[in-house]
Amino acid sequence: LAEISRPGAEALDAADPLAGFRARFDIADEQLVYLDGNSLGMLPRSTLARLGEAVREEWGGRLIRGWSEGWMELPLLVGDELGAAALGAATGQVAVGDSTSVCFYKLCAAALDEVAGEPGGFERDEIVSDVENFPTDRYVLEGLAAARGMKLRLAPSVADAMALAGPRTALASFSHVSYRTAEVVELPVVAAELRAAGARCVWDLSHSVGSVELALDEWEAELAVGCSYKYLNGGPGAPAWMYVARELQGSLRQPIWGWLGRRDPFLMAPGYEAADGMRRFLSGTPPVLALHAVRAGVALVADAGIAGIAQKGRALTSFCVEAADRLLGPLGGSVASPREDSRRGAHVALAHPRARTLVDRLATRGVIVDFREPDLLRFGLSPLTTRFVDVWDGVAALRDCLLG
Ligand SMILES: Cc1ncc(COP(=O)(O)O)c(C=O)c1O
Repeated sequence: LAEISRPGAEALDAADPLAGFRARFDIADEQLVYLDGNSLGMLPRSTLARLGEAVREEWGGRLIRGWSEGWMELPLLVGDELGAAALGAATGQVAVGDSTSVCFYKLCAAALDEVAGEPGGFERDEIVSDVENFPTDRYVLEGLAAARGMKLRLAPSVADAMALAGPRTALASFSHVSYRTAEVVELPVVAAELRAAGARCVWDLSHSVGSVELALDEWEAELAVGCSYKYLNGGPGAPAWMYVARELQGSLRQPIWGWLGRRDPFLMAPGYEAADGMRRFLSGTPPVLALHAVRAGVALVADAGIAGIAQKGRALTSFCVEAADRLLGPLGGSVASPREDSRRGAHVALAHPRARTLVDRLATRGVIVDFREPDLLRFGLSPLTTRFVDVWDGVAALRDCLLG
C-alpha cells in the first residue's frame, strides 16, 4: 500500500508503467497542476505534427481531391479505430462527427421512431432518465418529448429511473460514468433489464471513453454516444462519436437526412435513401481537420492500452480519495465519489460548502479543477498525463486554501 504523502506519490510515479506518456504531450506550463482533463484533455505532440501535415499536405496540396483521396472515409475509419482502442466494438459500428448533443439527438430520435413504428408502439409514450444525467441529455430528451407529445420522466437516480421503466417506456438514457460524482452504472445489467422491458437505451459515455474499460458489443449496449475532447484528448470542440450495434443499423433512421447519409450521395438524385451501415448516421461534410486530431488522440489510447489506462485511473483516484480523507476530512471537505474503486470513473468529486470560491482560489495557486453546482470540486485525473504528485499537490493546495 502506498504511503499517502508527497514521497509516497513520487514513489508511485516512479513505478508507473504509463509515466512516459506525459512526455508525448505538449505541456506549455510544467508548473501548472492540471486536474481538468475530464473537461478538456491536454494537447498530444502527435496532434501538432498531424494537424500541421494535414493542413499543409492534405488541404494545401490535395485541395478538392482530398475528398476522393481519403477524407470521406475518415468518420468511419476513426470510428473503427476508436471502437477497437476504447469501446470494445467490432468494426462498422462507430461513426465520428457532429457534437455530442447532435449525436445524442440523432440516436434518441432514431430509437423513438423505431419504437413508434412497431405494432402497439404508440402505447410506449414515455422517456425515462435521471436528474443526475448530463444537462444536454436531459434538455434534448425534453425537446424530443415535447415535439412528440411524450412524457419525460426524470427520476432522482438511475435505480429510481429503472423502477419507472415498463410497458410505457419507449426510450431510456443514462450516463455510464456520472459527470458529477464519477459513479459507474452497471451498464450490462441495466441494458439487459431495459431490453427485457422492450425499451431502447442510449448511453452517454463521455466520461467513460478513454478512462475505463468498455465492452459495448459484449454488453449488448445497442446505442451510445460520447465526446472526444476529454480522455481522448481530441481538442476543444472535437467531434463526438456514435455507436450503433450492427444488428440495429438496418432498422434505425436518424432524423437529419443530409446528403452524406444518403446512398450514393454524388448522384445528387431526388429523394433520400439511407445509406447502408454506419454511413446512414452521418449528415453533412465531415470535420476533416478535427477528425485528424481525434485520430491522434485515439492512437495514444491504443498505444497505452485501455486496460492499463483504467488501472492507473483507479490508482490515481484511490490515492486522491485517501489524500482527501487525510488532509481535508478534518477541515470539512468530504469525498462525494464512490469509495469502491470499481464503482468510480477517473475523477473524484469533493464536497465543500465553499466549493465555488475554493476552485477560484486554487486557480490562483496554479491548480486547475472545476466546480459543479452546488458544492462540488471535481478533480479530473487523466491517466496519460496526470501524475500522482499532481494529485498530492492539488489536494495539499486545497488544504492550504481551507487553512488560509
Ligand atoms: C456526459 C456529457 N455529455 C455531453 C456533454 C457535452 O455535449 P457537447 O459535446 O454537445 O457539448 C458533456 C460535456 O462535458 C458531458 O460531460
